Amino acid sequence: MKTDLGALFEGDCLTIMPSLAAESVDLLFADPPFNLGKAYASKVNDALGEREYLDWSKRWITEAVRLLKPGGSFFFYNLPKWSLKLGEFLGGLLTFRHWVAINMTYTLPIPGRLYPSHYALLYLVKGQKPRIFHPDRVPIETCRHCGGEKHDYGGYKNKMNPRGVNLTDVWDDIPPVRHLKYKRRKANELSLKLLDRVISMASDSDSVVFDPFGGSGTTYVVAELLGRRWVGIELDCADIVARMRDTTEDRKHLEKIASEKNVLFKREALQLRARNGYRTDRYRVTENADADRDRGSSSATLQLSLMDR
Ligand SMILES: C[S@@+](CC[C@H](N)C(=O)[O-])C[C@H]1O[C@@H](n2cnc3c(N)ncnc32)[C@H](O)[C@@H]1O
Repeated sequence: MKTDLGALFEGDCLTIMPSLAAESVDLLFADPPFNLGKAYASKVNDALGEREYLDWSKRWITEAVRLLKPGGSFFFYNLPKWSLKLGEFLGGLLTFRHWVAINMTYTLPIPGRLYPSHYALLYLVKGQKPRIFHPDRVPIETCRHCGGEKHDYGGYKNKMNPRGVNLTDVWDDIPPVRHLKYKRRKANELSLKLLDRVISMASDSDSVVFDPFGGSGTTYVVAELLGRRWVGIELDCADIVARMRDTTEDRKHLEKIASEKNVLFKREALQLRARNGYRTDRYRVTENADADRDRGSSSATLQLSLMDR
């Protein structure tokens, strides 16, 4: 399948990646099967022995690293267990930058263990530093009932960046895709917000984004709507082809995400604060479209690419 910006290959990434040009990719995002015995439409064996899973992972990682340009970014999403073992391997090929903890509170408890509540997103780069790095800023955390600040910014309110708070390596604002309105398939599907954040941070409008494990196509739909070129591989592309045929809902969802980043307060928080008597006048609050236009970031790009259509 092809779009104006992207190309999707159906098949095994280990077979297809060798046919792709070396150093052709600016940003690689990979969300492989976690080897938890899940049933995928592609009938992939998701219950390998530990040795087998690690060997398979090392094979696709080696091939994927070959595709990355110098200064390109590699994001690897997995369970902490596999990230620990494969992180060391990845660190031998690339420069480690961050272990981002993605908070997931809706997983199942495991008897005799701590409640697992995060996935690991390893962020590495080819060479010493990334060629592209412009992390979004996030709004101040507020109480969803009253709009009050969850943290005390004390006397520094007027010193805070009007585009929001610095992104940290703990992301607890990424919702699981559970809502039927958004979820397209039984198997895993990542949140648009996660991919929007990663793609906005580590790519520009002329960049190539690559994901060897397409699933429902979250990476590709975000890349497409943000105006990035993209390349994808998936064993069974039916879900992706159907999703790409009509991106109306994804587009609306992404517009909402864009309106809620690079601002100090979300619009709803401002309304709640006004209703509950919280003072906001000491902060410098701006509309994010202007802030984004100033820095040429992704949501400005999104608005432009939306206008183009
Ligand atoms: C965890 S899912 C990815 C979900 C995706 N990030 C999303 O948001 O929809 C992993 C996917 O990798 C695919 N897959 C597994 N082994 C593969 C291989 N060797 N080559 C290509 N795709 C593969 C599976 O069919 C599955 O759809």
